[in-house]
Amino acid sequence: MKLTLSLILALSLALCATALAADAATDAAALYNAKCASCHGKDGSKTILSKPVKGLSAEDFTKKMMGYKAKTYGGTKKATMEKSAAALSDADIKGLAAFVAKL
Ligand code: HEC
Repeated sequence: MKLTLSLILALSLALCATALAADAATDAAALYNAKCASCHGKDGSKTILSKPVKGLSAEDFTKKMMGYKAKTYGGTKKATMEKSAAALSDADIKGLAAFVAKL
C-alpha cells in the first residue's frame, strides 16, 4: 500500500514537471512571436534589419542578449536591441535561447 502511494506520488510529480517544461516552451514561443518576430521573422531568418537569429546556438544567443542588456554587445543598430533586451528577465532570455536554437 505504502509503495503504491509513493508510486502514485512520484508519477504525479513527474507529470507536473513535464507540464511545467511544456509551459515554459509555449511561453517562449509566445514571447518570441509577440516581441521579436516583427523584426526577426517568425522563423528567425529575416535579415532586413539585422543578422538572422536563426542558426544561433542557445549559448551564442544568451551571450548576445546579455550583452545587449549590459550594453556591451552590438552593432550600429544596437539601441533597438538594448531596449528589447532590457525588457526581458534572465528567465525570459533562457527560454528564448532554447526556442531560438530550435528555429
Ligand atoms: C524593432 C525591431 C526589433 C525587435 C522587435 C527585436 N529585434 Fe533583435 N535585432 C534588431 C536589430 C536592428 C538588430 C541588430 C542590432 C545591432 O546592430 O547590434 C538585432 C539583433 C539581434 C540579435 C543579435 C544577432 C547577432 O547575431 O548579432 C539577437 C540575438 C536578437 N536581435 C534577438 C531578438 C529577440 C530575442 C527579440 C525579442 C525579444 C528581438 N531581437 C526583438 C531588431 C529588432
